Amino acid sequence: MNIALRLGVNIDHVATIRNARGGPHPDPVRAAKLAVDAGADGITAHLREDRRHISDDDIERLMKTVTRPLNLEMAPTAEMQRIALRHKPHAACLVPERREERTTEGGLNVHNTQNILTPYVGTLVDAGIRVSMFIEPDEKQIMAARNIGAPVVELHTGAYCLAEGRDREYELARIVEGAQIAADLGLECHAGHGLGFDTVAPIAAIPSVVELNIGHFLIGEAIFGGLDSAIRRMRALMDRARADALGAESA
Ligand code: PXP
Repeated sequence: MNIALRLGVNIDHVATIRNARGGPHPDPVRAAKLAVDAGADGITAHLREDRRHISDDDIERLMKTVTRPLNLEMAPTAEMQRIALRHKPHAACLVPERREERTTEGGLNVHNTQNILTPYVGTLVDAGIRVSMFIEPDEKQIMAARNIGAPVVELHTGAYCLAEGRDREYELARIVEGAQIAADLGLECHAGHGLGFDTVAPIAAIPSVVELNIGHFLIGEAIFGGLDSAIRRMRALMDRARADALGAESA
């Protein structure tokens, strides 16, 4: 059973603020280094087709200077595949992308695009990149991810974070079940999107989830108390929830 739960800090929105003025400040690479010092196990960055936040130069600098693994979020396009193969990040998370969306709104429809994704993922895996599929916690999608040869799935927690009351319980149950299906299929399971201090613990308590990727909330919270403190608090909440869950399991 997994004791360790990794935290990947997504630094996209440091770049969003930088790009609002067009200069170099604030630098997402500086934020990435600070995140590592505060306890991040990895750095996540989404290079969008429209480059609305992270830039090609950011990826170049992250690869050169950050001491923890980079998880490159990318749409499954030919351009992004070329970039991934050039940089060879530790991991690549394939996400759906629509230009008009404010953020990644849903999971990738792996089930309907298996023919296209199988060779696409195979090329990245052959290059030594750990490929994950960002999908809804849906059995059909998880099975499809396994069928196309992806070793990792990242379950979308957005609907869970947005829901309230019984609806949130329902969404949580879907993620718990999805994580179990993934584990039974031998897939490594990650989770992320929309997580904050109030929503992280039940996800961190799912023993088969080994990595959480969290960005927007942490960067927003940094305005009030600093990035270091926001990451340390998130880390503590995650670790406590995981330890409690494992304690309850072995009791
Ligand atoms: N995981 C994936 C695959 C994402 O696309 C994102 C958003 O870029 C995140 C995690 C992090 O989401 P948030 O910024 O809402 O924490």
